[in-house]
Amino acid sequence: MDNLAIKISEVVKEKSGVSRLTLTDFRNYAYLRINADLCPIILTGENGSGKTNILEAISFLTPGRGLRGVRLADIKRICPALVGAEYRAPAESLNWAVSGIVKKNNEEYVLGTGAQKNQRETEDEVRTFERRIVQINGQKVSSQADLGKYLCAIWITPQMDRLFLGGTQPRRSFLDRIVYAFDVEHAKRIANFEHLYRQWYQLLKNGSADNGWLTSLEEEMACLGVAIAAARRELVARLNTFITHDPDDVFPDIMLELDGTIEKMLDKMAAVDVEDFYINNLKKSRKSVVTNDYVDGVNRTDFKVYYKKKHMPAELCSTGEQKSLLISIILAQTKCQILDKGFAPVLLLDEVTTHLDDIKRDALLHKIKDLKLQAWITSTEHQIFDVLKNDAQFFSIKNNQVF
Ligand SMILES: Nc1ncnc2c1ncn2[C@@H]1O[C@H](COP(=O)(O)OP(=O)(O)OP(=O)(O)O)[C@@H](O)[C@H]1O
Ligand SMILES: [Mg+2]
Repeated sequence: MDNLAIKISEVVKEKSGVSRLTLTDFRNYAYLRINADLCPIILTGENGSGKTNILEAISFLTPGRGLRGVRLADIKRICPALVGAEYRAPAESLNWAVSGIVKKNNEEYVLGTGAQKNQRETEDEVRTFERRIVQINGQKVSSQADLGKYLCAIWITPQMDRLFLGGTQPRRSFLDRIVYAFDVEHAKRIANFEHLYRQWYQLLKNGSADNGWLTSLEEEMACLGVAIAAARRELVARLNTFITHDPDDVFPDIMLELDGTIEKMLDKMAAVDVEDFYINNLKKSRKSVVTNDYVDGVNRTDFKVYYKKKHMPAELCSTGEQKSLLISIILAQTKCQILDKGFAPVLLLDEVTTHLDDIKRDALLHKIKDLKLQAWITSTEHQIFDVLKNDAQFFSIKNNQVF
């Protein structure tokens, strides 16, 4: 264990994570309960056995659209004919449900979420179908962003193997998820910004809104947008500083950069002036957004990553190097968060060992153990986790059940 790992393990007073997970009508699971230790958790099973679905369920105990970013309606278990003896229908009004007992800073919380049933066929009700219900300690809360106060999860999925190659949206979401960990209000700001943007866009498309209404939406969006940009800048600066002082001994040293108009303006202008600029920019975009769907702003920002020692942008790195860069970001974020807040995020690592050489794979597993993280790690192979045989909880998944 290096010095930093020792320092970090001293800071962590109590381990954090999900100690009990319950799924009802979630994907391939009619009913599933897992009692989990706060340590590495290895889920192995054949393709299609339901490993990723368990990680996805945990991701729904945090703000956002889950690890796959799908429509809530897709999650409802298909095939009720296969209901087994263990089946327990979710609460009357829900299509599917996930609940978890979460431990954080020596406290325990019960988080629950699910999607509300669609009972009528009107357009409004289709929206209700998509509506996510969130409960914290048995009390319904109005904003799913509140989940972020109790559980913070960061994930790496096989889809993210292409994170640096495709469009900007998945990179932005990845960045924003990391920002949530430092700043729980960030999830709320992002959700509110998106909500206002959709409203603004719809009004412009319908051509029915009055100037006063549009202006008030633009002012609110600009105010939130500048706060979003500032939080992203703070996170990137913090991680860059951390990595410069404490580079990882195995995973590559990285440099992070934000490529966004609003973020860049905050380099040289006061926030109030950037806000004015943003308001004017939105005003100017009223016509063009209807024709070409394009408005510059925090909803367009890109998150750039460089392999520092090689002076190489992530998109030009090899597949294994790109995976390693992602792991570097997550390790830096995790260490920073522990030092800052005294608790670690839960890591959801789906097939994370793919593309890693043996040294990096074993190093990652050792680091997870040394940092005392709860990391849910999936794989089709069991033997690669032998290095954790005394330190992890092992589950194998078969026939929609976990053993
Ligand atoms: N809404 C749903 N209802 C029922 N089953 C579903 C639903 N959505 C997905 N599934 C099924 O759940 C099964 C498990 O999927 P999952 O992605 O968790 O598998 P996995 O163990 O991660 O497999 P792999 O090793 O290939 O990644 C799949 O067979 C999939 O078709
Ligand atoms: Mg999978």
